[in-house]
Amino acid sequence: MNTLWTSQLSVGAKNITSSAIRDLLKVTEQPEIISFAGGLPSPDCFPREEIMAAAERVLVEKPLAALQYGPTEGYAPLRDFIASLMRGRGLAVPSEQVLTLNGSQQGLDTVGKLLIDPGALVLVEQPTYMGALQAFRPYQPRFAPLPMDEDGLVVEALENLLQQGEKPRFLYLVSCFQNPTGITPSPERKRALLRVAAQYGLPIVEDDPYGELFYEGTRPPILAAMDIEMHGELRHVLYLSTFSKLLAPGLRVGWAALPQELVAKFTHAKQGLDLHTGSLAQAVAYEACRDGLLDRHVPMIRATYHTRRDAMLAAIDTYMPKAVVSTRPKGGMFLWLTLPSHIDTSALLQRALEQNVAFVPGAAFHANGGGTHTMRLNFSHSAPERITEGVKRLAGSIAEVL
Ligand SMILES: Cc1ncc(COP(=O)(O)O)c(C=O)c1O
Repeated sequence: MNTLWTSQLSVGAKNITSSAIRDLLKVTEQPEIISFAGGLPSPDCFPREEIMAAAERVLVEKPLAALQYGPTEGYAPLRDFIASLMRGRGLAVPSEQVLTLNGSQQGLDTVGKLLIDPGALVLVEQPTYMGALQAFRPYQPRFAPLPMDEDGLVVEALENLLQQGEKPRFLYLVSCFQNPTGITPSPERKRALLRVAAQYGLPIVEDDPYGELFYEGTRPPILAAMDIEMHGELRHVLYLSTFSKLLAPGLRVGWAALPQELVAKFTHAKQGLDLHTGSLAQAVAYEACRDGLLDRHVPMIRATYHTRRDAMLAAIDTYMPKAVVSTRPKGGMFLWLTLPSHIDTSALLQRALEQNVAFVPGAAFHANGGGTHTMRLNFSHSAPERITEGVKRLAGSIAEVL
């Protein structure tokens, strides 16, 4: 094989690896497989008609806004709309602090580009979203994974680390219905976290794609809103969110709400990446949402996933061996299983695939190794009957290796 190009790879590029999930998805696309592996929204929940009508209106009425280059910061009407959406989440920032992104994933790469030098310390939850690890790794951080309990990140562990004089660049966390565990810290836990961050001058990157998908009670509060409450401005928190789980991930429209001091740098970094988020996708997202689509549509998504979550939890209660411990998320798209420590879930996956069931082994969500006896299950993508059948088969595979 030629190595003309690969022999020239930068040190950072050597850290670029494929996402275990994306590799696995290639296998699980076969229709006979009941897949709990992907992080896919259900296609039943895409507002197809509304997006089609919005696209037509955009192309007929505003072809220039949709087809021409646009500002790096984003399509102005969409930024205003997002700013109003953010006010509904308690986050009152002016539109100038909102940047649209090519998916919130782009925000993670941009954060890495702006804040990580080789060897710099970055704090993450254990386990954490593997796409964030994938985005940060090329910038060569040292990761310090922080333990979680059933109420999320353990603040004392964070405080201990900071007391030792460590100066991390930032803490990354998924604050509502975490990917991969489904865990949401209580408001008290979030406040404590923010107080510690403020005391030690620790920036927090808050990633929140799932907060609207709650199946019990109300939407969990976000750290960014608490930051404004505490400090009168967005100071410690850089907030990322997305339309991927509310409209459709194929649009690739997400956003960042940024502390004022970072807006210019973030904009310039994005300029180098893609000049701007696709004009057509932004205009369609805006046109689809401007008359209240989210208020009508998101409750339907919640109802659909609520039923699926219940089906998965019920099947776990019925079929899983008692030695398997599951989280019981109140929202989102995932739950997390912890198996007895001698079980290697990567090996178990082969067995499960023979039964036509797939999941993601938990090791991939661990920044510095470990978690080989854990797994992530997605409950948003399959219909309830398939979920029940899949969990039954998976439980059978687990029972064989107990
Ligand atoms: C925690 C988390 N952050 C970011 C993303 C990326 O989302 P987007 O489609 O907005 O790029 C995902 C997607 O699954 C996610 O789970």
